Amino acid sequence: MIQHPATARRTSAPAAVFDWLDEAAELRARAGLTRTLRARPAQDPVLDLASNDYLGLTHHPEVTRAAAEAALRWGAGATGSRLVTGTTELHAELEVELADFYGVEAALVFSSGYAANLAALTALTDPDTLIVSDAYNHASLIDGCRLSRADVHRAPHADPDAAAAVLAERHQPRALLVSDTVFSVDGNAAPLTGLAAAARAHGAALLVDDAHGLGVLGAGGRGALTAAGLAGEPDVVATATLSKSLGSQGGVVLGPRRVIRHLVETARTFIFDTGLAPAAVGAALAALRLLRAEPARAERAREVALTLAARLTDAGLRASEPDAAVVSVRAPGPEQAVAWAAACRAAGLAVGCFRPPSVPDGYSRLRLTARADLTDDQIDLAVRTLSVTAPLG
Ligand SMILES: Cc1ncc(COP(=O)(O)O)c(C=O)c1O
Repeated sequence: MIQHPATARRTSAPAAVFDWLDEAAELRARAGLTRTLRARPAQDPVLDLASNDYLGLTHHPEVTRAAAEAALRWGAGATGSRLVTGTTELHAELEVELADFYGVEAALVFSSGYAANLAALTALTDPDTLIVSDAYNHASLIDGCRLSRADVHRAPHADPDAAAAVLAERHQPRALLVSDTVFSVDGNAAPLTGLAAAARAHGAALLVDDAHGLGVLGAGGRGALTAAGLAGEPDVVATATLSKSLGSQGGVVLGPRRVIRHLVETARTFIFDTGLAPAAVGAALAALRLLRAEPARAERAREVALTLAARLTDAGLRASEPDAAVVSVRAPGPEQAVAWAAACRAAGLAVGCFRPPSVPDGYSRLRLTARADLTDDQIDLAVRTLSVTAPLG
């Protein structure tokens, strides 16, 4: 953890009030934690294994056309919050189809997956609730825990027995067990059956973030809860983003009708946020319909991930065993991970790069997305590029 510099706190010169930001940036730079934006050109020649466009739908003509048509028909913006003017008939149509596809009673669309997670965590808990949250959960779940007024316990990663023990000891009348379904860095799946059993044994609800499971796991990409036989259960709620498999933008909470009603009436990131833009709604709806019509896309994403991981392992690299569409490859250290990702980019391959403190376990790694639309030649190219640029060690 970098300490913010203490200087410039008491200055009275207006030009100096933000001096401490430069000092903080300098400390981050020295720790190798500088982050920079790179503007992507429309026609990027680089092979993309860094995005979350798992099904390759973001550029699909039916999806982009639906986005354009929605903007032309409903306007460029939603014009207001969902409870005022920001709910169009298109929003309602998307919610009905998402709920039906996911196998739940109801769905509620948000302006992002981040907002959906904040909504679920803050609206479904109170000071009399214990939240048990997996140590590797996504930042948006962690922030939701922080915003809630509940007691929060950070539980060991993917460990239903540990979660059950914490739930058993609690004094709070209510409890919520929270986990990603697929962890975003390594792509490993949560033990959902065990977590659901632990929650149920101790009268807790289960909240899962299926951002990386929707469109990839379960029959036809119906998600991790379908894969685990838990879709539609009365004590289970899921969140997801529309920005990964569905190639659009936005988020959703999926679950029992009374949960969704409660969110509509109480969730601050629903009530005090402008509705999702019609173009994003139209795109997500078109992508969902495509996935329904072409369920093999989900299977293909999983197959590409398994192939990619096996080929990288054969090449002597330390690849994870993917449970969904994310493959991670270990690097010897943080500097090597950064240099490796840069070498890949220079060779025409975009990959994600994670190093501590973004990853909690101390291992730096590259993160690869196995898109359903990758060709065998592109998989060959990716494996070759990662092998020839791999650092020693
Ligand atoms: C697991 C997980 N949950 C939530 C989000 C946030 O979704 P959004 O980008 O739609 O805000 C992400 C990433 O973007 C994610 O990986």
